[in-house]
Amino acid sequence: MGSPFWWLAAIHILTFQHRSCLVTGRLISSSPSSSIIGVIGESVVLPCHVVADNIPEVFSVQWIFHEQSQKINVSRYDGKNKKEKHDERYQGRTEFFHSEFRAGNMSLHLKNVRSSDKGSYTCVISFNDTYHDVLIELQVAAKGGVPSIFLKSHMKQGIGLTCHAAGWFPKPEVIWLDGQGQVRKELSTTKMTMMPAGLYSVATSMNLNPGSDMEVSCRIVNNLLNTTSESRVLISDIFFPSISKWLITLLVILCLSMVLISTVFSKLRSNHKKTVSSVKAKMEMEEEKNQLKSMIEGEKTKNRAAKSKLKKRFGRLKAELDFWEARSHAVPITVNPDCRVLELQVPGAPHAESNATGPNAPSPVPVLVGKEGFAAGKRYWEVEVGQQQDWVLGVVREKGRQEEEGTRPGEDYWALHRSQGEIFSSEGDRRIRKQQMSNSVIGVLLDLEEGQVNFYEAEQMGVMVRMPLRLGKESAEMFYPFLSKTEGTHTPLVLPVLIPVPLETL
Ligand SMILES: *[C@@H]1O[C@H](CO)[C@@H](O)[C@H](O)[C@H]1NC(C)=O
Repeated sequence: MGSPFWWLAAIHILTFQHRSCLVTGRLISSSPSSSIIGVIGESVVLPCHVVADNIPEVFSVQWIFHEQSQKINVSRYDGKNKKEKHDERYQGRTEFFHSEFRAGNMSLHLKNVRSSDKGSYTCVISFNDTYHDVLIELQVAAKGGVPSIFLKSHMKQGIGLTCHAAGWFPKPEVIWLDGQGQVRKELSTTKMTMMPAGLYSVATSMNLNPGSDMEVSCRIVNNLLNTTSESRVLISDIFFPSISKWLITLLVILCLSMVLISTVFSKLRSNHKKTVSSVKAKMEMEEEKNQLKSMIEGEKTKNRAAKSKLKKRFGRLKAELDFWEARSHAVPITVNPDCRVLELQVPGAPHAESNATGPNAPSPVPVLVGKEGFAAGKRYWEVEVGQQQDWVLGVVREKGRQEEEGTRPGEDYWALHRSQGEIFSSEGDRRIRKQQMSNSVIGVLLDLEEGQVNFYEAEQMGVMVRMPLRLGKESAEMFYPFLSKTEGTHTPLVLPVLIPVPLETL
């Protein structure tokens, strides 16, 4: 009674559920929706069977993949031209069982399953204006490789273990087990990464404490395929760091003593180095000191030389100054043309009989005496002696000029005297040692203020000799310049001295 009603309702529900694009005709669903598991890389048959008494020659089958809201044509068979059409994604991977068509077997053979094939498929068959619609859920799975267990370096306590497995889909379950096949109590951390092929790679690590069960297995479970893969290791005691306490103690002691020995050794070495370096430094310092000493010595000699040079120069300048000072007192001198004879106590005096007179015996010397005499002040004059070998010049003192007695034994004189190339002063017959008598001009300073007579080498501007005057008490003392008279042209001449600008008082 209610059967046709139920059918109609079922048709409508199915039409809306699958959002079928079919517009007219009847739709017959043959088998209920089912789930199929496809293994990645292998083939899978997406089943579709239509229950019909007779399948006509003209019919069509279409497999559709539902990707979100899109419908992708997986494969289509149109009986008329007998051509299969594919979507690019399924190109070359699908096949119908043509020989089974008449028996209503519209299943699709999908080869080389990929992880992206996972999802809902619909098989739509149409003939005689009727449509058959079958929904299939394809699940994809992969059984990956056998896990590998690695021993990591020693942890703080115990040893670290890692388990690697690759090529699993979907995400597998990872379990650490003990020797009795029980799940281990140790904490483990698991990391899963999607490989480029769409499969999962698993890495899990665990810390195995000493004293626990030494048999360890790593199991990877694919719940979809209901398959497992497992690796098992038995860890020997020697991998554990805490083998025995006394050995550790011994090792610690050994380490400590080695550290101590190396410390002592390095200390000794550094000390030795220090000693060597200090000795070296000392030697260097000594050397430096010596160098410094010699340098100072050199400086000292240099300084001494400079000092003596300066002293010399200073002395020379002083002498020059003295000379110029003397010269500033120049006076014109004229001599009486008539000759006078002085009893000079000079050795080897000119025109004296050498056999009769000793070196200190007074001998008469003809001289020319100046017209004017001086009683006070400073007076300077110069006499050119040229290259003559014998001459006398100086100052003669006369007391009471009015007497006019000529040569008197009481007369005093201060003279410079040249005889046979040597120069003497009348003062104690001192011989003035001169390497060379290059000077042809002799300067005479009569200094009545200081009470002395100075003889200068006018060209060298140096003092030859200074003679003190024995000034008497009488006020009538007069000092006259004199010079020797010789025959011929070699008579010494009194030179006119240009009176220079008086020196400024120092
Ligand atoms: C369809 O045919 C294939 C190939 O002979 C077979 O493997 C499959 O089980 C059949 N399917 C049905 C639903 O009969």
